[in-house]
Amino acid sequence: MTDLLALETDLGAQIAAASDANGLEALRVAALGKSGSISGLLKSLGSMSPDERREAGPAINGLRDRVAAQLAARKAALDAAELDLRLAAERVDLSLPAPPRRKGSVHPTMQTMDEMVAIFAEMGFDVAEGPDIEDDFHNFTALNFPPKHPAREMHDTFFFNPGPDGERRLLRTHTSPVQVRAMQKTNTPPAAPWIAQGREPPIRIIVPGRTYRKDSDQTHTPMFHQVEGLVIDKGIHMGHLKWTLETFISRFFETGAVTTRFRPHHFPFTEPSAEMDVQCDRSGAEVKIGEGSDWLEILGCGMVHPNVLRSCGIDPDIYQGFAFGMGVDRLGTLKYGMPDLRDMFAGDTRWLAHYGFSAFAAPNPASGLS
Ligand code: PHE
Repeated sequence: MTDLLALETDLGAQIAAASDANGLEALRVAALGKSGSISGLLKSLGSMSPDERREAGPAINGLRDRVAAQLAARKAALDAAELDLRLAAERVDLSLPAPPRRKGSVHPTMQTMDEMVAIFAEMGFDVAEGPDIEDDFHNFTALNFPPKHPAREMHDTFFFNPGPDGERRLLRTHTSPVQVRAMQKTNTPPAAPWIAQGREPPIRIIVPGRTYRKDSDQTHTPMFHQVEGLVIDKGIHMGHLKWTLETFISRFFETGAVTTRFRPHHFPFTEPSAEMDVQCDRSGAEVKIGEGSDWLEILGCGMVHPNVLRSCGIDPDIYQGFAFGMGVDRLGTLKYGMPDLRDMFAGDTRWLAHYGFSAFAAPNPASGLS
């Protein structure tokens, strides 16, 4: 019996001293495993006389139960200590600043385009679209550019090689071909559902889109964006054109008084034609709209030429219309003070981080557009 007591004391001390789960497991195997010390004692019961067994049985079983309980208690204590250590090591300090996150922004061209669409939408214009790859008919012929006429050279056109049908397609040089698509009723449906389909007047559309010309300097890029406008109805005159553009400009630049000037110009598809200038101040580093004594050309416009109406199947004796086309990127650089148009297309992420807009600041007439 003294042996049992010594064994229990010894095991108890070792269990209390075990410092990790592995050491504790080794102790368990040494005591209660198949050939463990306590298991050996239990086995020895078989060879005892009934009297010896009656006395030794409960003592050895009691020892086994107490040692097992001690092992379990020590294991629970070690597990809890280990968990505490892990929790301390993996603690998250919620007061630390979060690492900076890279985030995208709305490109100034798209922001400008959205603002323009929002203003014209409020004035009752629908949005119409056409393909970037056009044919000669829509880009030139139907717009009253006579074949071989030097006016075609006004636009430095990117041409494709002739297709299997012999047709030489091109990258549209302006959004004006969509005027034709919106007016001319054809039997063939458009090649894609988003392409404008001809309809009866009255027509009141704007056409935001990409346009292409072989041109590159501080104020020209080979790909740029235009917004075209077209209104066809009875009794339309230059006064409607002037009011529409002046209303647009003062809303776009968010100034009440913008002085504009219409200069006579020539476009084959409008008669009379004009370019519109806005009053500005160019004395400083930035162009200031609505002040100063300078003028800045911002768009082309005019009354739709009767030949264009005729080539679209509209009777010019019944219907008249006006059209305009303006450069989106140019207007964006003016409004937001960017010195070089080419930066708009350089894809420099530092520039975009500076000039880009938050996706949550989507323009709409109720938000004041900015
Ligand atoms: N398409 C002309 C251009 O790109 C602009 C314009 C559009 C002029 C509509 C008159 C009417 O220069």
